[in-house]
Amino acid sequence: MDNFNSETIYSLPRIGDRAPQFEATTTQGTIKLEDYKGSWLILFSHPADFTPVCTTEFVAFQSIYPQLRELNTELLGLSVDSLPAHFAWVRNIQEKQNIKIEFPIIADLNKDVATKYGMIHPGESSTETNRAVFVIDNKQMIRAIIYYPLTTGRNMDEILRLVKALQTTDEHKVSTPAGWTPGDKVVVPPPTSQQLAEERVADKDLEVVDWYFAKKELVGTKE
Ligand code: BEZ
Repeated sequence: MDNFNSETIYSLPRIGDRAPQFEATTTQGTIKLEDYKGSWLILFSHPADFTPVCTTEFVAFQSIYPQLRELNTELLGLSVDSLPAHFAWVRNIQEKQNIKIEFPIIADLNKDVATKYGMIHPGESSTETNRAVFVIDNKQMIRAIIYYPLTTGRNMDEILRLVKALQTTDEHKVSTPAGWTPGDKVVVPPPTSQQLAEERVADKDLEVVDWYFAKKELVGTKE
């Protein structure tokens, strides 16, 4: 563990916050957060180029990129490595594994974006970004945040599931239960009055566990 000053305040954006704006140097030119308005965005950080777990993650992120794009969702990577390091690493992945990384990667050498998004957790490393994932919606609001430590690679199925769950919530005004995947029943919002609670219990179109907990099928949702 690195030494760090526990008095220092580190910015940690929260779910429901407007995503902090930035303009960054990337492997695909200068990119601003506002360029993504109208699309969903997964902004993710990795500790360092040319490291094994990060390499497995990049291959895995690339493998879900087409599915994410079908969900109107873009990918944007970040580390505090330089642009030449990103170019060399992406080239190496293509040479050794025949995988072309198609999404842009921020070269956040001065840690501007990493600091705004609280991607450096000094108790773990004061020099590298951890494995952060920010799901930013089409209105540029932060909808979900995942932090993983340096030593644990992320699960792409969960990231895809999370985007689908959030978009299902927006489209149908429902919640999604533990382990939900598209096709499973969704949770309907709880009743807001005693009268509605009584009606809820008698609702034959729902799978009612009790007045506060009912599920329903969604027809015609994207898998
Ligand atoms: C890795 O990607 O393998 C890695 C990076 C930083 C710390 C530990 C592992």
